[in-house]
Amino acid sequence: MEPTLTIPAVDRRTVTSLFSRLRTRKGQSNPLPLYAEMRNLGDVIPSPWGGHLITSYALCDEVMRSRKWRVPDTQWRTSQHNSARWNTPASLQTAKSLPMLNPPLHTRVRRSAGKMFGRRTLAELKESIARNIESVLDQFERNLLEGAADFNSVVANQLPVMSIGQWLGLPASDYSLLRSLTNDQTLSQEFFPSPSQLARADAAALGLQEYFTEVIRERREAPGDDPVSQWIAAWDTLEPDREKADAEAHSMAVFVIVAGLETTEHLLSSMVRLLAHHPEQADLLRAHPEYVPHVVDETLRYDPAIHSISRLAPHDTTLGDTPVREGEMVQLMVGAAQHDPRQYTGPENFDVRRRPSHFGFGGGIHYCLGAPLARLEGELLLTSMLKRIPRLRLSELPSWEPRVSFRRLNHLMVTAA
Ligand code: HEM
Repeated sequence: MEPTLTIPAVDRRTVTSLFSRLRTRKGQSNPLPLYAEMRNLGDVIPSPWGGHLITSYALCDEVMRSRKWRVPDTQWRTSQHNSARWNTPASLQTAKSLPMLNPPLHTRVRRSAGKMFGRRTLAELKESIARNIESVLDQFERNLLEGAADFNSVVANQLPVMSIGQWLGLPASDYSLLRSLTNDQTLSQEFFPSPSQLARADAAALGLQEYFTEVIRERREAPGDDPVSQWIAAWDTLEPDREKADAEAHSMAVFVIVAGLETTEHLLSSMVRLLAHHPEQADLLRAHPEYVPHVVDETLRYDPAIHSISRLAPHDTTLGDTPVREGEMVQLMVGAAQHDPRQYTGPENFDVRRRPSHFGFGGGIHYCLGAPLARLEGELLLTSMLKRIPRLRLSELPSWEPRVSFRRLNHLMVTAA
């Protein structure tokens, strides 16, 4: 007879109702009270779709740092009873990407990616990013002269695609297509995507597949001094089959676009939103521009781009007092854990003086490879804004997409104060 391991103290329906509220535009406009409710239910609570939600900082940290906990890879996805949900084209595309691989494959693929943003690459990118910042801020300032302007569409949505596009050597005329494909692709990673969202995600996955097949073909024919050509060269030394080598370089190229756009867009707009929302913190920053790097980390703590990260139990174990079975999924609710009062003093205060630890870039073996680029963009943008547009005021309440995992702001209307 199977041992009875889990006796949930919290009714799943309570958690389902919390999620329903979290997944609305209203819930997204301020998820903090809902996260407080969630934490009050316990450190480990039953997830509405099976498995557990982890709400405490300490337990998220324990799981994230462990080399034993696994990610839901292709093998796990195909073994699920509701495998159709996990085997849509967009979901399978995600499953091939680095954060969805387990060792030893993860170790091999991560090594093939190289350092991505070493000192030399960052120094080169710094100049082009600084130029891009001045050009988008020129446009933004022109718009502000007319009244309220949308920081999101004019600045936050433009810079990341320019940085990654230039780094990968992609033409500027493709940037808007790449943004729209990545926005749609990430819908498949939401908790409860609707059939129409899944259809959009699948169409986007196909678009990205075709786009990067062409990029790989071109770079194979005429290699350059760019990361895609370097990944092809790296895989040629690891994989004798050229088609397989190209497929690996392809997966990496698709993933860095999907991983780097929405996330950095969210970081940039959140920094500005939180400063506009907390004018006393903006005053402090103007008086202490040395806090600019803190603002990046405090924003990644206060409202990270990714609010939930999945892991699978490596064997029967316990988290806190809760038994977790081998293969069971846990969702690390990092958006909630990063406001855990046992970890932070005054967690609901946005405070530019602190430089907090956080899961904004993940942790453990899957720690984000693009973190140096995202930080650089955030710091350069804030530094330039402090000089050019030091005071901004929200002119209307921001509007949010009804999503949970990947936060998405639709507009950020501001005026110069
Ligand atoms: C503010 C911007 C960014 C945020 C918030 C962010 C967040 C994250 C997070 C949370 C993870 C871990 C996922 C997990 O453990 O399941 C991750 C992994 C990753 N990110 Fe980022 N990311 C950002 C920008 C970028 C950029 C610009 C790139 C590349 C150009 C990038 C490339 C990657 C890669 C390759 C991984 C997988 C690492 C691995 O599994 O070994 N990210 N990112």
